[in-house]
Amino acid sequence: MSLESEIKRRRTFAIISHPDAGKTTLTEKLLLFGGAIHVAGAVKSNKIKKTATSDWMEIEKQRGISVATSVMGFEYRHFKINILDTPGHQDFAEDTYRTLTAVDSVIIVVDTAKGVEAQTRKLMNVCRMRNTPVMIFVNKMDREGKDPFELLDELEAELNIAVRPLSWPINQGFSFKGVYNIYKDNLELYTPNKQKISETLNVDIAGKELAELVGEKDASKLREDLELINGVYNEFDVQEYLSGKLAPVFFGSALNTFGVKELLDCFVEIAPSPLPVQTQERIVDPYEEAFSGFIFKIHANMDPNHRSCIAFVKVCSGKFERNVNYKHVRHGKMMRFSAPTAFMAQKKETVDEAYAGDIVGLPDTGTFKIGDTLTSGENLHFKGIPSFSPEMFKYIENADPMKTKQLDKGINQLMDEGVAQLFINQFNNRKIIGTVGQLQFEVIQYRLLHEYGAQCRWEPINLHKACWIESDDPEELENFKKRKAQYMAVDKDGRDVFLADSGYVLQMAQNDFENIQFHFTSEF
Ligand code: G4P
Repeated sequence: MSLESEIKRRRTFAIISHPDAGKTTLTEKLLLFGGAIHVAGAVKSNKIKKTATSDWMEIEKQRGISVATSVMGFEYRHFKINILDTPGHQDFAEDTYRTLTAVDSVIIVVDTAKGVEAQTRKLMNVCRMRNTPVMIFVNKMDREGKDPFELLDELEAELNIAVRPLSWPINQGFSFKGVYNIYKDNLELYTPNKQKISETLNVDIAGKELAELVGEKDASKLREDLELINGVYNEFDVQEYLSGKLAPVFFGSALNTFGVKELLDCFVEIAPSPLPVQTQERIVDPYEEAFSGFIFKIHANMDPNHRSCIAFVKVCSGKFERNVNYKHVRHGKMMRFSAPTAFMAQKKETVDEAYAGDIVGLPDTGTFKIGDTLTSGENLHFKGIPSFSPEMFKYIENADPMKTKQLDKGINQLMDEGVAQLFINQFNNRKIIGTVGQLQFEVIQYRLLHEYGAQCRWEPINLHKACWIESDDPEELENFKKRKAQYMAVDKDGRDVFLADSGYVLQMAQNDFENIQFHFTSEF
């Protein structure tokens, strides 16, 4: 197959949801359709999220397992599908944000009874930053839930995106009878079944047969609903979807493998194949012959006997090949990889080649950091791996003065891996670690000890937010830095960061210094 057709048939996406909406179940059913697994229950659920307050060793053990499910590749029809898994636990939200930089589209799972939840909203904001095309799957239709029209309004308002139903439920909960596939104009009748795929019927919506299948009352309700949909919503426009402005909505029940095939069939047909990517130097087209890619995730092995990491590369253009020399742009040196891995079904296996859209795992012993670029030789720097303003802060102190070097090395490497963010307070030179969740502090302490032989101690610091600041007015910037000297820090790249100890202080600073921009992500 030509390079072009290989790349065209790739669909690389992530499924995101608030914990418990059904992401794991849906993922598993998609794998089932792709023949990548044969029985339901085979995917280890990412149950991390359920132990919300922290037996984190257990969590890490499960994270270890989840390397295998970090990327799930499979073939469906003539498409090559790559699903990128995202951690369910919100303390690993930063991991999820980074994964979203490596996908070309997203499927959002919403629970019909709960509607839009906190995590869904946050993740949608990240999608919106990049205009990522999203599709929505309303799950658990076998249970009582919200009225579908009301739910659509809620999706539109809460997720701040136009929606367009492409399938429509006939009742829900106890009296759920099936969905009408608006995209393909056919009917799927509901039979609860966790393994099998239901039959699809071509039924004339205006004809008698519909009433015979679902009863007179539900037949007329469906006709009315469809009429209303056509009245209220514009004709579905793929371009609107591709530009991230319109989300097609499907209804179903992942657990019962119902409505999932409709979603998948429409998805492969309309979801984007790999898209051009912006680098600092130029836009890289996926169909270029030369290989390029960036590291979006580094997965550490928690087993102290196998201390290597896996660096995940998203191939952005051309073809990646085993044992070929590629340039590690930050280090300016050539490297080749004899054991790159790809992820097919649930197996990690060595691959000889991978194409734009694919994810390749590279064994890593500290050579990579998040955002690093690999190319066939050109000096490119991919943009768009933002760090988000963390929400929790602690001073990190050395608890074993004999191991200062180890501690520094450990901190630097963990920050390169993206475990947390480091800020150095310019006033007292103390190191501050910022995270999105409590768990990261435990992870860092544990890993410093077990991987670097260093001991750290945490000390409290009262901070509300860290934000990056910049200004076109050097005088005002200097003035600000002087006035706020106690609260000024630099991040690992030496950029100015303001540490606000309360929302009020931040607000006042924003009011008082009009020529200073306060940024809440590192990319601006
Ligand atoms: P998540 O990854 O988004 O966190 O959700 P997950 O798939 O683990 O699903 C959360 C719970 O919702 C699971 O139940 C799962 O079986 C259930 N579920 C998923 N899809 C449907 C559906 O279409 N209908 C109904 N009724 N339930 C659904 P659990 O009891 O927490 O776990 P388990 O013991 O069944 O695995």
